[in-house]
Parts: sequence; C-alpha cells; structure tokens
Amino acid sequence: ARITLRQLLDHAAEHDYGVPAFNINNMEQGLAIMAAAASVDAPVIIQASRGARAYANDIMLAKMIEALIEIYPDIPVCMHQDHGNSEATCLTAIQHGFSSVMMDGSLEADAKTPASYDYNVAITRRVADMAHLVGASVEGELGVLGSLEHGSGEQEDGHGAEGKLSLDQLLTDPDQAVDFVRKTNVDALAIAMGTSHGAYKFSRKPDGDILSMRVVEAIHTKLPNIHLVMHGSSSVPQDLQDIFNANGGAMRPTFGVPVEEIVRGIKHGVRKINIDTDCRLAMTGQFRRVAAKTPDEFDPRKFLKPAMEAMQQVCKLRLEQFGTAGNA
Ligand code: G3H
Ligand code: 13P
Ligand code: NA
Ligand code: ZN
Repeated sequence: ARITLRQLLDHAAEHDYGVPAFNINNMEQGLAIMAAAASVDAPVIIQASRGARAYANDIMLAKMIEALIEIYPDIPVCMHQDHGNSEATCLTAIQHGFSSVMMDGSLEADAKTPASYDYNVAITRRVADMAHLVGASVEGELGVLGSLEHGSGEQEDGHGAEGKLSLDQLLTDPDQAVDFVRKTNVDALAIAMGTSHGAYKFSRKPDGDILSMRVVEAIHTKLPNIHLVMHGSSSVPQDLQDIFNANGGAMRPTFGVPVEEIVRGIKHGVRKINIDTDCRLAMTGQFRRVAAKTPDEFDPRKFLKPAMEAMQQVCKLRLEQFGTAGNA
C-alpha cells in the first residue's frame, strides 16, 4: 500500500527505528528494493531524483511504482521526490502519484549555488502549503551538504554546491533549524553534518571532526518532534569496492558513513537515511564481474540478475541494521 512520509516516519519515531530511502531509476532497482523489504517485513521509501525522472520518464516511474505495490500488497511504500528544486518539480511529482516530496531550497534552482535563508524558507513554505492541501508530505533541507574534511568544503563529486563553503554552511545551526521548521511546516528536515553525495566522502574512517553526529544530537534536543533526514549516507563498504576493483574497476580508496554512526543518529531523531551510492556500487560491481568472467556473455539478464541480487542484499542489510525490519 502507498503511504506518506509523515505516516511512515511517525511510526518509526514511535518505535525508535530508521527507514532507508533507496533511489530508483529502473525496474531492477525497484524489484530489488521490494524483494528486500518483503524478505524482512519492512516498510520502504523509494525515491526518484530529477535525473531519475528524466531517465525513466514520469509515466514509466509512476506505473512501475503502481506495479511494485500490486506485486507486494503487504509492504507499505512511500514514493518520494528526492531533491526537488522548484514548486513545479514537486507538484508534478505529486501529480504522478508521489506521496512525498523534498523541496531542497538549500541550493538555488540551479542546484549549485547555496541559497539565502529567506529564499529557502519562502519556497519550502510554499511547497509545504500546497503539498499538505492534497495530503502529501514535505522534506526540507537546511545547510549545504559538503566535506568538512576539506575544511572549506569543496565538493568532490560534481553534486551540489560548487567551490568553497564555510563551516557554518556545512553544519546546520540548531537555532536556525528551530526557526526553519516553525516557519515552513515541513514534515521532515534534512540537515548537514559533514556527509556528501557520491562515493568519495572521506579519505579516512570519519571521526567527530569530519562527521558531526553531535550536530544531529544538538538539533534533536531542540526539535525532539521533527523527523531528521541524513543525506549522503552510503557506507561505501570495502567488500563492494573490492569486487568493483578486482574486475577492472578503478575506484580510488574511500570511506563512507559508518553504519554505527547512522545507528547512533537513529537514537537521536534520524528517521530517513538516503542511500543511492551503495546500491549503484553493488550493481555495477556485478556488471564488471560478469563482464570479466564471461566475456562472451551478451544476454543483459545475465548481468542484471546478479546485479539485482547484490542490490537486494545491500537493501536487506540496511533494513535490518536500521531496525526497519519487522515493521511492515
Ligand atoms: O542526490 C543524489 C542521488 O544520489 C541522485 O543522484 O541525480 O545522479 O540521480 P542523480
Ligand atoms: P549517497 O550518495 O551517499 O548514496 O547519498 C544519496 C542521497 O543523499 C540521495 O539524496
Ligand atoms: Na530526499
Ligand atoms: Zn541527497
């Protein structure tokens, strides 16, 4: 069944668990997420970026979600717009059956320039007012994702803000978060604590200097009733890097967000945890393995089936680690 982010995260807060939000671009990722959820009796958040909507077509995505819900009638599914950058993006998502949208006003509509606080408040409030009229949920974002490790925080992966960012842009201010939630009426709040999108988050296992779970705790203390969202939360597991690199891949050494830090976040109000990179890496590692081992293979299913299974394993593991399992 289709549920909203608000319904799902209220339940998660009441029962002290977190919910991974997995990105979807195609049928195989959808089947992997749902098979994982069904195998551990968990609700799920499936999210599509603007890029995913352009890649798959809105109609295809909408019908795919409908099909997944029909195939797995007992699994609660929240369909969410990831990183909406305008009123139009968010409202057309709702038109296509999304039950939740992220209005990311932390960046200007070009998705590169950090936005002013007033811009962020105003556009997020407008989207929240409209979405709530039709029963959809809204996630806002305060603070810009970026690397604390590199001091001034340059982005390494081409996502998000370009150039240098100051420390106070890279860490969400707890008092400002209180004001933002009051003024925008969002259902969930994405915050900046040192994570970034993509595979290259940290050059070492992160400590409190470069991944600030203390900011999460401080915000949760001031806003105990808001559902917090962690973006850039892939763990980039070493075993997945190894499969990728052992089969002709050239991924530089890197560290993601340790699962134990996310689990700590869940104890302090984190309810939605965004994961895309781990799923991508699990899949493409299998593409590489099949291509390397069976160079004569040309049936795409021989690549996609193991890729789907590898993604399903990652999803299942996160649903267990975050306590989502058993809550469908
Ligand atoms: O926001 C980042 C997500 O991983 C989506 O990435 O824009 O390449 O689809 P994308
Ligand atoms: P990762 O790149 O760490 O998977 O983050 C995904 C994300 O935040 C999508 O919004
Ligand atoms: Na999102
Ligand atoms: Zn994100």
